Amino acid sequence: MSKGKILVVDDEHLIRWSLTEKLQHEDYEVKSAGTGEDALKEVAEDLPDMILLDIKLPGIDGMEVLEKVKQSHPDTIVIMITAHGIIPQTVQALKLGAYNYITKPFDMNELIVTINNAFEVVALRRDVNKYRSEESKRYSIENIVGKHHHMQELFSMLHKVISSDTTSVLLQGETGTGKDLVAKTIHYSSARRNKPFIEVNCATLPENLFESELFGYEKGAFTDAKTQKKGLFELADGGSVYLDEIGDMPLSMQAKLLKLIEDKTFKRLGGIKDIKVNVRVIAATNKDLSAAVEKDVFRKDLFFRLKVFPIMIVPLRDRKSDIPLLIQHFLGQINMEYKKKMKGVTPEAIDVFLKYHWPGNVRELKNILERTVILAEKDEITTFHLPSEMFLPPPEETADGENVIKIPDSGVSLEEVEKKLIIQSLAMTENNQTQAAKLLNISRDTLRYRLKKYRIGNE
Ligand SMILES: Nc1ncnc2c1ncn2[C@@H]1O[C@H](COP(=O)(O)OP(=O)(O)O)[C@@H](O)[C@H]1O
Ligand SMILES: [Mg+2]
Repeated sequence: MSKGKILVVDDEHLIRWSLTEKLQHEDYEVKSAGTGEDALKEVAEDLPDMILLDIKLPGIDGMEVLEKVKQSHPDTIVIMITAHGIIPQTVQALKLGAYNYITKPFDMNELIVTINNAFEVVALRRDVNKYRSEESKRYSIENIVGKHHHMQELFSMLHKVISSDTTSVLLQGETGTGKDLVAKTIHYSSARRNKPFIEVNCATLPENLFESELFGYEKGAFTDAKTQKKGLFELADGGSVYLDEIGDMPLSMQAKLLKLIEDKTFKRLGGIKDIKVNVRVIAATNKDLSAAVEKDVFRKDLFFRLKVFPIMIVPLRDRKSDIPLLIQHFLGQINMEYKKKMKGVTPEAIDVFLKYHWPGNVRELKNILERTVILAEKDEITTFHLPSEMFLPPPEETADGENVIKIPDSGVSLEEVEKKLIIQSLAMTENNQTQAAKLLNISRDTLRYRLKKYRIGNE
């Protein structure tokens, strides 16, 4: 398959011929034209991906061809061929949208490198734009489902955050309540939507990498720093940085983050220059940050700084009236994704959904629906399809607020309970073993060992 269509436009026959030969050899599909008029005709008949365009042509010159092509086909890559290097005309061509220029006489191999690079860059650019427009559709505020008054409050807060561009935001809510979804919605609905959204999980980033990842480093800052590297804040300039699980950010980093939020500046590791960036910080946590402040593991000043715009997402069990709506929403998505025709849920099954206490919140609801739709043979979800944990009462709370599991009079199988808890932890974390192990307060190795033992998943 050809790597792309190139039109070579030059009045010198020898140049047209040699370029055509070489480019065909490189697997490009090549056409050529000797005048501006012919070039425009060719473009109208069979639009090339790239045009190598001599500036000086008899009749309509290269500049005019460039202007016309860019007006009608802005995506076409144009590389100018000039005899004199950078002259005012070349600059003008670049301003008109030419991608680059080459100077005659040119080295064929260098030219090929320039052309290959241009194709790569343009493909990337196209991907990024496509990705961004798809993302902004996916993360528009309409895709957050909810009618409960807690959700109404969330929406009115979101509208404020989206229209005020600079403030940082703190999202608080249990796991699975929709913090990621809200963070992305804020970014992709705001004026920053065409700039990067960069996600950092503070719980999984090792402490010694925090600073170099977020702020970057100068060459020689440490033994392995062979070249300068930009940090995530610099890469996100103009956009948003999503600091997930901010409660797990080391104290030393918290001071630096505070400075960044207040002054909008930071230094690269080993650097002396202050670098200015314009990023919105969206922080999220499922921890009680004010308790962390009390315990001196989270800085009070940073907490207050982030809390200017606090968004609380309440647990699903406190907005159960939204469950039918969410079921409908997810069934639509799941049917489409798996080409199924699941119509709905029987009244008895709805009762179970409404009684259940949803420790994994909306994520758990979505996962359970997905699992049942895949397994169910009927077009309606019945109680028969639902996982057994949904029939259990919520764990009782002791006086000091800690959960205990009560053994029923009939007794339990400890292994069964353990197995269920493991399955539940995986459902709550979308099969993230590191996070599941954390929920169970065991090491990842221990979790893997048990997965194997109970033959859960692929282990
Ligand atoms: N109100 C909602 N409407 C639609 N989908 C939601 C809603 N809340 C959460 N979800 C979906 O549930 C899943 C878990 O949400 P997520 O944002 O990852 O939660 P968190 O970051 O708080 O753990 C995601 O697939 C998300 O799209
Ligand atoms: Mg999350």
